[in-house]
Amino acid sequence: MSEPFIITSVREMKERAAAARAEGATISFVPTMGFLHEGHASLMREGRRRGDLLVLSIFVNPTQFGVGEDFESYPRDLGRDRRIARDCGVDIIFAPPAREMYPAGFQTWVNVETVSLPLCGASRPGHFRGVTTVVAKLFNIVKPSFAFFGEKDYQQLTVIRRMVADLNMEVEIVGMPTVREPDGLAMSSRNSYLSSAERQSALCLSRALYSASTLYRSGVVSVAALREEVLGILEREPDARVDYVEFRDGESLEEREVADDHTLLAVAVRIGTTRLIDNVIVGRGITWKEKC
Ligand code: PAF
Repeated sequence: MSEPFIITSVREMKERAAAARAEGATISFVPTMGFLHEGHASLMREGRRRGDLLVLSIFVNPTQFGVGEDFESYPRDLGRDRRIARDCGVDIIFAPPAREMYPAGFQTWVNVETVSLPLCGASRPGHFRGVTTVVAKLFNIVKPSFAFFGEKDYQQLTVIRRMVADLNMEVEIVGMPTVREPDGLAMSSRNSYLSSAERQSALCLSRALYSASTLYRSGVVSVAALREEVLGILEREPDARVDYVEFRDGESLEEREVADDHTLLAVAVRIGTTRLIDNVIVGRGITWKEKC
């Protein structure tokens, strides 16, 4: 595999992408904040399969972090990311500095209304405005045919699909299944914050989702009963502090009191100081290596 080419300027990224399109190439695009893991690798591999040119962006986007959140401490390691990107066949890494994306005078925001409000939107006000603004900018710069996002950030994927539909953007959004560690923990760059004891405690998230979706699949459709099952598991874990446990329609994100096959169960839990999220579509259920 050849080394990915690193671009830091918006102008150069636009020119490279335009030249590729002029030659008839289709562009696959994987937007990330770096500190890549196997979840990102699955997006890059699918991008490699679908497009002629594979572009990865690495940008820790300041506007999607709230006051007191982990923007400063967010893990960064471009050398390591570059090796993972190379092994996944990435052609270009776009890694702009913040001043390229948000030059002096910047004042335009993209805000998706209803689906941005609940869940992480309620816990992290302004978060999705930052996400949709930066993703819209990245789409305008790269103009990809396909863009890849993980279902681990289910609400983010829903918000981005809404933005693309509402603003008539010409990009196909491809959602990819959550990648889990062999013991069930959903892969996330933030897992690197966990001590080994916290890492064990964090397994309560996938255990709770597994239990609730198994209960649903055995015929229990009452959200009150399913929530009780989830809270029972999460609250037994001394290190865990529940932020939310919610049952919502998998498309509109409207609240549900009776679950059906399309119901999303989404949880956010603090393990020590680390906030983790995970989810399952209850009708699909989840599994991982040690559960196979
Ligand atoms: O999922 C992420 O890593 C980020 O939210 C994204 C989509 C790259 C926007 O900064």
